[in-house]
Amino acid sequence: MSAQDALKLQVAQAALSLIPPRSWVGVGTGSTVNFFIDALAASGLSLAGTVSSSEASSLRLTQLGIPVFASHEVAQLDVYVDGADEIESHGYMIKGGGAALTREKIVAAQSKQFICIADESKWVQTLGNFPLPVEVIPMAAARLIKCFELLGPNVHASLRLKDGKPWVTDNAQHILDVRGLEILDPLAFESQVSQWPGVVTVGVFAHQKASICLLGTSQGVKTLYF
Ligand code: 5RP
Repeated sequence: MSAQDALKLQVAQAALSLIPPRSWVGVGTGSTVNFFIDALAASGLSLAGTVSSSEASSLRLTQLGIPVFASHEVAQLDVYVDGADEIESHGYMIKGGGAALTREKIVAAQSKQFICIADESKWVQTLGNFPLPVEVIPMAAARLIKCFELLGPNVHASLRLKDGKPWVTDNAQHILDVRGLEILDPLAFESQVSQWPGVVTVGVFAHQKASICLLGTSQGVKTLYF
């Protein structure tokens, strides 16, 4: 196991202690969350159920015998556990490296508390070094690429591809990755871009920020509150 995976495993296991018994748990997407799902299954913790943010996480949960409910079947979730591509000192994040950002934002909004599990490589001063994922309606992609490029001379947006074809999300939409941003006001940026016609979800999670971050470091797991 790589050193980074060892940190992901540590934070995934640490998150178990923040899950109240018989609670409703929102489950995110990605390699860190996969460690969390495996740890949850191994723990035998009794849950009311889960709501998942992707087909991939739903499949993993179901295969391990953890009950998954549709979002509309559950009024509110007690906690949401998910990773991040970047997180900063206010708990604002960039997410969507795994293309699950829309459902992640929906499930996060449905949860009382967002527990971010991340290894120390995700910790940043300012969001924007990681290419910002934006889920878009396909017919708007070309126009939205131009909109992003008007934000600054160093900003470049491109359509995410898989095997030479546009990446298709669980919601049958496409993903833009935007490079060269320095997001100084994540709340304002998220509000602004969310209003552009054709944007389904922008991968800045400021309005749905983390409440707690379990950060895996070489000195152990740090618990940060926002
Ligand atoms: C998926 C996400 C993930 O949380 C993010 O990409 C981090 O993934 P990983 O845990 O694999 O580093 O937002 O859409």
